[in-house]
Amino acid sequence: MAAVHLDGKACAKALEAGLLERIKACSVQPHLAVIIVGDDPASHVYVTNKVKACQRLGIKSTHVELSSDVSEAELISLVEQMNNDNTLHGLLIQSPLPDHIDEEAITDLINPAKDVDGFHPANLGRLVQGRTDGMLPCTPSGVMEMLRWSGVELSGKKAVVVGRSRIVGMPQALLLAAKGADATVTIVHSRTADAKMECLTADVLVAAVGRPEMIKADWVKPGAVVIDVGINRVDDPTRERGWRLAGDVDPSVTEVASLLSPVPGGVGPMTIAMLLANTITAAERQH
Ligand code: GUN
Repeated sequence: MAAVHLDGKACAKALEAGLLERIKACSVQPHLAVIIVGDDPASHVYVTNKVKACQRLGIKSTHVELSSDVSEAELISLVEQMNNDNTLHGLLIQSPLPDHIDEEAITDLINPAKDVDGFHPANLGRLVQGRTDGMLPCTPSGVMEMLRWSGVELSGKKAVVVGRSRIVGMPQALLLAAKGADATVTIVHSRTADAKMECLTADVLVAAVGRPEMIKADWVKPGAVVIDVGINRVDDPTRERGWRLAGDVDPSVTEVASLLSPVPGGVGPMTIAMLLANTITAAERQH
């Protein structure tokens, strides 16, 4: 039997209703700045979607596009200027940055109060401490929200996260294991001895590895909840544009899982909803 789709779009829409109320009650219009460096087409699509979502809810946004040969010093100077600009509440620098820029060093510079991505060491450190009331990384917190919204019980369940990135995998594992969620968590990564065997133990499987359709049906325990964080472009000569979007999870998993998040329309809209939520929180706390 086919798995039920975990509808990220519907969940994000439900969240947005609450966000609109918070914007109305906020003494200032929340204002997000988004910086993108270079011309990676996928990153431009993500940033455009973030800016459009701000417009939809009435959040002010400033979108800065820098050329791929911008110097690290110039980017540092812009971040410092935005940190000191009291009219800006949130600051996001789209990842990845070009190789000549030290992404971690730039992240370290962002004022933690404006760090709507939740990537600053102060915010990730709070998460490690189990303090989940701060700026949480948007994709993993969106996954948690989607699981809550669908009534998935995590306490005492076995969760497996495939991938250990600072953007998704690692914070996802922390959130699943945090008090209140209470899952027992395994992280699968490129050096894991038997990734398939680990995945087969999962009641909840989160795939965040960036490898198209890596998770096959025979990697998944029957009835498991599967969350697909992957958004990969794969060549497809049958499409007019020559490519299609593929998740990290093979479509055949729908025959085994109980719930499966689709790509697109699953985690993507939730990431944006959580970014909007963090921006509103930042504005509320700064005023
Ligand atoms: N690149 C892919 N996902 C993200 C994200 O959530 N935030 C930023 N800043 N860059 C990304």
